[in-house]
Amino acid sequence: MSLTGTNGPVDPGGGRRETALRPGYHSPQVEVDVRLNTNESPEPPPHAFVEALADELRSVPLHRYPDREATALRAALAAHHAVDPAQVFCANGSNEVIQCLLLAHGGSSRPAMLFEPTYALHAHIALLTGTPVIAGRRDDAFEVDPAEVARTAAAATRAHGPASPAVTFLCSPNNPTGGVETTDSVRSVLALVPGILAVDEAYGQFAPWSALELIESEPRLVVVRTFSKTWAMAGLRLGYAIADPGVVASLANVALPYHLDALKQVAGRLALGFSHEMHDRVAATIEERERVAEALSNLPVELWPSKANFILFRVSPRSGSKVWKGLLDHSVLIRDVSDWPGLEGCLRVTIGTRSENDRFLSALGEVLSA
Ligand SMILES: Cc1ncc(COP(=O)(O)O)c(C=O)c1O
Repeated sequence: MSLTGTNGPVDPGGGRRETALRPGYHSPQVEVDVRLNTNESPEPPPHAFVEALADELRSVPLHRYPDREATALRAALAAHHAVDPAQVFCANGSNEVIQCLLLAHGGSSRPAMLFEPTYALHAHIALLTGTPVIAGRRDDAFEVDPAEVARTAAAATRAHGPASPAVTFLCSPNNPTGGVETTDSVRSVLALVPGILAVDEAYGQFAPWSALELIESEPRLVVVRTFSKTWAMAGLRLGYAIADPGVVASLANVALPYHLDALKQVAGRLALGFSHEMHDRVAATIEERERVAEALSNLPVELWPSKANFILFRVSPRSGSKVWKGLLDHSVLIRDVSDWPGLEGCLRVTIGTRSENDRFLSALGEVLSA
């Protein structure tokens, strides 16, 4: 069947062209012994948390819509971060937070600016929301140079007017390169852009500082966090933003009614009572990360220092996918980012348990010497 729209023939199954994912975005979900490809926590959340959750879920009124304001969860998050509940917005994973941010502040003449290589969904979600993407480049150490910020912001302004870029993304620690933005860097980007600055801190608990420190003095700053990584709750899909109350209200405007189900509202609130255990997991992961980095430095690979729960390394400009496949043959799944611009030959490994990391290291040693 062929339909005709205002712009010519329409493929009814094809949808909008810009919504197609870039090749290689989705990490394959395959059955393997060792899964180190999506930066999840290698350990489940504490048993006592699961017990408390199961107990409380028994009394959730499932026939009623959830609290649209997520009052208790937002109050708990506000207390956790010493902010006001009006500064907290919750959604189904930080990806949905980012989607709301772009629905509220992006749009056809309101571009988003970011610095590649970085988390691929910033650009992809922007395109889903009809927001043009203006991409600058990180330098050789994968840092964001203020001169590049100024140049890219000026390009956005030239193309779309003085209010552009409407939304700028930083990612700290940056996925997949692992580096952390400094306070000066966040401040200097804020000084160079007219719109919102979103600092994606999906791995924020691994970093030595957080942009949350600037939240009270910077009304255009939005800090995005998730329960998927350090809280060991990727299966529950919960993320949030801390921002100025006006920005939070703008995000709530574009979220669908009752988007945050009652079960995850309970889960998030209860999880915050186990923050000591979360910090212990973070400390253990950092120790393992340093052990893995040391072992990798004895192999013929180039690696970048990481302040997250993953490590980026380069095997050789051309053999990234071959090595990735070799690891898969050993039932070890990591992330192939070798076809991302600027990451030729690179792979990213999530830090797992000690035994998973050992399996990865010995498989990599074998693959590289084959
Ligand atoms: C930097 C970054 N932001 C956001 C996300 C998405 O997290 P969520 O599971 O909260 O949607 C990820 C997941 O890998 C990530 O790496």
